[in-house]
Amino acid sequence: MWLQRLALGAPGPVGGLALIMRRSIIEGCAGYLPERIVTNEELAARVDTSDEWVRVRTGIQERRIAADDQQTSDLATQAAERALANAGMRAEEIDLILVATTTPDNTFPSTAVKVQAQLGATGGPAFDIQAVCAGFVYGLAAADGYLRTGGADSALVIGAEIFSRILDWEDRSTCVLFGDGAGAVVLRAANGDGSNADRGILSHHLHSDGTLYDLLYVDGGVSTTQKSGYLRMAGQEVFRHAVNKLSDVLLEGLAANDMTATDVDWLVPHQANKRIIDATARKLGLPTEKVILTVDKHANTSAASIPLALAEAEADGRLKAGDVVLIEAIGGGLAWGSSVIRW
Ligand code: UT7
Repeated sequence: MWLQRLALGAPGPVGGLALIMRRSIIEGCAGYLPERIVTNEELAARVDTSDEWVRVRTGIQERRIAADDQQTSDLATQAAERALANAGMRAEEIDLILVATTTPDNTFPSTAVKVQAQLGATGGPAFDIQAVCAGFVYGLAAADGYLRTGGADSALVIGAEIFSRILDWEDRSTCVLFGDGAGAVVLRAANGDGSNADRGILSHHLHSDGTLYDLLYVDGGVSTTQKSGYLRMAGQEVFRHAVNKLSDVLLEGLAANDMTATDVDWLVPHQANKRIIDATARKLGLPTEKVILTVDKHANTSAASIPLALAEAEADGRLKAGDVVLIEAIGGGLAWGSSVIRW
């Protein structure tokens, strides 16, 4: 029990003394969406689909598409600048920059170093995380590890994607599902005392299963075709895995924190399909009023979907200091995970 509390960084008495653990607190968050809105009707004029099919099967009404001259780093930098402003911090105060993306500007270097240069925050480590739609959860866990162990005192974790560039616009079963965007959070290490005593990231649970590689992948790449390729997905199978694996990994997170669904204030899920989100919440026994939804307006923005949703819910006052917030995501790999955060 104490070992578990230690692992989770929970404060508690050891030998009569208060044990104080470093934790990562989310100091700020923000999103950036490209200006251009593409509705289902607009897509229906280009591919054999309908507004009704897309709404009923996915909950999506519209998505944003990046301008031709925008790269993933541009979206990421915009989100990062807004998150820094939201946190009241300057770029020079950031020790570590992680960009979760599947659609980097170039094969190398990382998109993160470009963002670092655009922000004017050079010197510290900056690198990309590749876990597709689970990228933000993976990135948050990696940054949290740095902060907890003293490797950094602050970090920017960004999810940024231009999925419109890897979509096969002739394939109606996938091209209607995705959108472009970026979201960012600023993390700061805190000692788990004072007014912030119980706030911060409490746990992460990450998983992957490479035997499911072929369910969701891009049919190109440097060592295969030397072209970036297009997204391919066995939608129904991914759907089934998503509902089961996401509900399991959320329960794993709750159990590790001695919590149940009644302790949860907000579920901020990866936004792939409203039906997946509804089914996952139902399996946990969470009412829909506690679920943050952005899939209707953003579609699936892969690694950007969770920070975009966090930013929206924080900006409109739903997320409040002290709230218990669950995040979860699954995507290509398959790779999936959840985190429990006290906001
Ligand atoms: O973030 C990464 C994780 N990804 C996901 O979580 C996605 C998981 N999968 C899904 O969200 C759903 O499986 C989809 C939205 C992709 C598809 O929904 P579905 O209810 O599983 O539909 P389906 O694939 O079984 O297709 C049903 C029918 C088919 O026609 P027939 O064979 O019944 O005549 C499809 O050809 O719908 C047809 N269809 C479409 N019709 C109109 C497929 N795409 C479209 C479309 N417009 N865009």
